[in-house]
Amino acid sequence: MAEAEVAEKVRMLDIYIMEKHYQVPEGLTIQTALEYCGYRLIRGCGCRGGSCGACATVYNFTHDPTLRYGLACQTAVELDMCVVQIPCFPTAKPIYDIKKLRPTVDQVLGIYPDLATCFGCNNCTQSCPQDIEVMDFMSAALRGDFPAVTAESFECVMCGMCAARCPQGLSPYNIAMLIRRLHGRYLLPKSKHLEEKVKEIEEGKYDAEYEKLRSTPMEELRHIYDERWIEPK
Ligand code: SF4
Ligand code: SF4
Ligand code: FES
Repeated sequence: MAEAEVAEKVRMLDIYIMEKHYQVPEGLTIQTALEYCGYRLIRGCGCRGGSCGACATVYNFTHDPTLRYGLACQTAVELDMCVVQIPCFPTAKPIYDIKKLRPTVDQVLGIYPDLATCFGCNNCTQSCPQDIEVMDFMSAALRGDFPAVTAESFECVMCGMCAARCPQGLSPYNIAMLIRRLHGRYLLPKSKHLEEKVKEIEEGKYDAEYEKLRSTPMEELRHIYDERWIEPK
């Protein structure tokens, strides 16, 4: 098929990036559309696979002002989409030493006292591109139900959108991370095989293998990586 015919078959979509009009081929993600339009993504782009949360994006449509939230690398562009990326959002990030804490609500409130001001507006849930029931895990946090917080927040990619939309200035994702840490450290059973593996590492069992890898040329390392065993799905 001639190149012109192929081009003819590609539908071009009108979109608006930070209010500037562009035309992009149908089938791109918001992220690849940004690059198609000449944006060099230094911020707001990481894994490109829906895991890092760096590409949080707010969008609506010229015919519908309702705000939607998505990850730019996972959301397809649509006709008349208006997009703005939110690469990061400033939130409170208290410093704490997990070894000095206990897995209690009081300790969580000691670090995030504003947790108690959550009034259940549900903005956080509505803004989550991962479709996490954020408000629910915030309620579970206040009840001290750490297993529920861990389970409900497990798919969080730390994109920050819930914090951006919270009228109380809370950062649900940071609160959930503290609780997952407390849950993992104090409430889950100890992993025996992990302890054994760490002990082996500390005793130097893998030092020689590690040194060998460090002195292996890059090409050979790539070959070893490509040939590695991968657990079947
Ligand atoms: S819980 Fe918050 S930070 Fe986590 S993915 Fe949802 S919106 Fe992003
Ligand atoms: S947006 Fe804030 S106040 Fe509203 S439910 Fe979520 S955490 Fe609570
Ligand atoms: S670039 Fe990592 S989630 Fe989109």
